Amino acid sequence: MKNNNNIHNPQNLLVTGGAGFIGTNFVKYWIKQYPDTNIIVLDALTYAGNHTNLDSLSGKSGYRFIHGDILDQKLTEKILRENTIDTIVHFAAESHVDRSIHGPDAFLQTNIIGTHSLLKAAKSVWLDTDSPLKHRFHHVSTDEVYGSLKPDDPAFSETTPYAPNSPYAASKASSDHIVRAYHETYGLNVTTSNCSNNYGPYQFPEKLIPLIITNILCGKTLPVYGDGLQIRDWLYVDDHNRGVDLVIHKGHANETYNIGGHNEWTNLEIVRLVCNLIDDKFSNETSLSQRFPHAPQIKNNRSDSLIRFVSDRPGHDRRYAINALKITRELEYEPVESFESGIKKTIDWYLHNEKWWRDVMDGSYQDWINRHYRTGQE
Ligand code: NAD
Ligand code: DAU
Repeated sequence: MKNNNNIHNPQNLLVTGGAGFIGTNFVKYWIKQYPDTNIIVLDALTYAGNHTNLDSLSGKSGYRFIHGDILDQKLTEKILRENTIDTIVHFAAESHVDRSIHGPDAFLQTNIIGTHSLLKAAKSVWLDTDSPLKHRFHHVSTDEVYGSLKPDDPAFSETTPYAPNSPYAASKASSDHIVRAYHETYGLNVTTSNCSNNYGPYQFPEKLIPLIITNILCGKTLPVYGDGLQIRDWLYVDDHNRGVDLVIHKGHANETYNIGGHNEWTNLEIVRLVCNLIDDKFSNETSLSQRFPHAPQIKNNRSDSLIRFVSDRPGHDRRYAINALKITRELEYEPVESFESGIKKTIDWYLHNEKWWRDVMDGSYQDWINRHYRTGQE
């Protein structure tokens, strides 16, 4: 273990992308863990951002939401100065691989240019003015930067060469390099984490797990790309947040840390698991049949009767797996949620928050679904 004389104790955080899936969970996690710190969320509220996620925090002292774009460097500089921000936690991104295939421009703009804009603001306020603040810029990245694994390949470690395959992954890889360069060249105190697939509450229903849950409840087909045997390494969102917390507090400057939970599943296994768990719910809770009259259980069908194999994603990465030894050894990281409990909690959250997912499935969501799945789902 490295000798850690670099403990960072954030007082005033700026969280970008805090109205998205992981950002929302992170802000709630952080406020619970560290109620005495101040936290500002900066979010452009794209289709993936939803400020109502954070409604329960409005009026709370020390918390503020700012509607703005990370591309607006002057705005970020103003926020950093006026609030004596010492820590930036950077989640804001375009995050959906399929959307990056249909339209890469927004991904390059937000993920690369937007990250650079934030870095320039941080340099200007923290370094160019000789600020006495002990600062940290934490960049949240993904395991997709490492590309795709073969069945017997060892899991991704921090030294695995970058080989991104989608425009999304390439944009995140670029941002990782620029973050690194700002440390090497200008001395900005940066850390980066590369995490595997997250699941949990507030995930936008374009991503696999919430798409499957909400489609079952609406009686729509369950699209499985290709043969469904691609593998992802799933981590409950608050286990990701625990890892980010450790890196912010104890990570070494300019180090990267992989975060994951040794939890590899094929997509088809995940889809079937979600189907079975929802079928069990319907057997045990009669009120669900009244609330979701289009669900297959109403006609005594099983959820997996909705599975359809559809065209594969172009350039689809076959397997991701994370080697999390470094963060485990150096920062004593351990995920706490089992997959069994995490997936049940997630299904329960979607069952109890129907209004949330119905509200986000607005016109633009339907346009996306129709365009992406071509004929739309039944
Ligand atoms: P998300 O798409 O749910 O949320 C992204 C948030 O960023 C939204 O609130 C959106 O409004 C905001 N945003 C987008 N462009 C912006 C801009 N220009 N300025 C300000 N805000 C903007 O994404 P997520 O799944 O919560 O992912 C968050 C971060 O974690 C991303 O950087 C992603 O690459 C990374 N990550 C995600 C996963 C995962 O499984 N979801 C895994 C590893 C890493
Ligand atoms: O690995 C981390 C990454 O995980 C993050 O960086 C991304 O932001 C996040 O979106 C996620 O990317 P994936 O592409 O792995 O997630 P998604 O939920 O889109 O898809 C998971 C798997 O399921 C993938 O192999 C594609 C497949 N899939 C997805 C959808 C939406 C289907 O088979 N059918 C579908 O309809």
